[in-house]
Amino acid sequence: MKNYVVSGAANGIGKAIVLSLVREGHQVFALDIDEQNLNLLKLEAPKQIHTYTIDVTDFRAIERALLPVVKEQTLFGVILSHGIDNEHTISENSIWDRIIATNLTSTQRLLSLLCPAISNGGRVVMISSILGKVGRKNNSAYCASKHALLGITKALALELAPQRITVNAVLPSWVDTKMLREGLAQQARMMGNTVPLLLKRIGKRIPLGRLISAEDVAGSVNFLLSPAAVMITAQSLVIDGGDGCGV
Ligand SMILES: NC(=O)c1ccc[n+]([C@@H]2O[C@H](COP(=O)([O-])OP(=O)(O)OC[C@H]3O[C@@H](n4cnc5c(N)ncnc54)[C@H](O)[C@@H]3O)[C@@H](O)[C@H]2O)c1
Repeated sequence: MKNYVVSGAANGIGKAIVLSLVREGHQVFALDIDEQNLNLLKLEAPKQIHTYTIDVTDFRAIERALLPVVKEQTLFGVILSHGIDNEHTISENSIWDRIIATNLTSTQRLLSLLCPAISNGGRVVMISSILGKVGRKNNSAYCASKHALLGITKALALELAPQRITVNAVLPSWVDTKMLREGLAQQARMMGNTVPLLLKRIGKRIPLGRLISAEDVAGSVNFLLSPAAVMITAQSLVIDGGDGCGV
């Protein structure tokens, strides 16, 4: 039994990661702002899942919640899956500030608190995005935050290498979660389409023939947490079903 911290645990990719960890018999400290879905998640394995309803941009709340954990527990892994997206132009400062605080600054604060509690040979995995490698119109803050996670991954991998702790990022493209469905809703309205129809079209365009599931991403994260990945660090693993490999 190993101890893990997972952020963004109440929904989508984070939830799939938590469920795969508890299936393997591990204990998970699960963070999210979404209290309702966090409570539902806890019901899946009440003895193994410890839930913390916190806004990761509230640094005092992070400390209050996690200081007792890091004092009492040794962690094997930290998986950061929280994140938000919102279309905006380059001059919309408040949206920029909110996305950078949520996706980027909170990551540094969480890692500063949690890294000292990670055991030798442990793991850090950050959920970046394919938008950590390429751009998208009206998404400068999201793209900047996800590119920056790759910078943190490389620098922190070097910092933690003496303790044999690996630090990697996964970069999914189209994952069928609440985030993607909400992002597509406005586009669907403007085009007079439905979200399921847009999802079907995107799935068909992907060379491997379907959208990526949260469980697909959890599977890749499990690989990075496994003994097989012990010598893999500072890497960016793209999970896109071949979407980015040609025109
Ligand atoms: N869905 C996709 O297509 C896709 C593609 C690439 C990368 N990603 C990334 O994967 C990660 C998980 O996204 P998802 O698709 O599972 O979306 P999701 O919306 O289902 O899950 C994101 C979780 O983060 C939580 N969260 C958001 N703001 C928070 C805050 N301030 N404090 C605490 N928790 C907060 C949400 O409540 C939610 O549970 C994100 O970092 C996202 O950027 C998603």
